[in-house]
Amino acid sequence: MADDLFKTAREAMGRAHAPYSKFPVGAAIRADDGKVYAGANIEVISFPEGWCAETTAIGHMVMAGGRRIEEVAVIAEKMARCTPCGGCRQRLAEFGTPDTRIHLCDASGIVETVTLAELLPLAFDSEALK
Ligand code: THU
Repeated sequence: MADDLFKTAREAMGRAHAPYSKFPVGAAIRADDGKVYAGANIEVISFPEGWCAETTAIGHMVMAGGRRIEEVAVIAEKMARCTPCGGCRQRLAEFGTPDTRIHLCDASGIVETVTLAELLPLAFDSEALK
């Protein structure tokens, strides 16, 4: 069932702009609207200005009207089971729930599925600002 997410993430990885790290990453989000949003990492010659595949996918989702993340697939060309970076964990938490599933993939499919709660325990969340 999440196989379509894996395939979309793998296709998105092909559109990465990663000439500096040479570490292409792809991500695909299934949102509450039932749609799938893809993203790849986009790097910039001023290195800190680049951003991750998950962030691109979140931007696509938000601009299309999706708000909740149900599941995500992440794939990196050079690494089996690439996990989202710390910043992306926080961004995913902004639009996900502790139960949101993160599928970690290699070139042939999903290798492992974890929850957002497992990736970002003790998350800083909106309770903090109340
Ligand atoms: N990267 C992602 O796109 N997602 C991650 O979860 C980990 C890292 C990208 C950022 C940078 O373009 C490259 O991988 C190397 O760090």
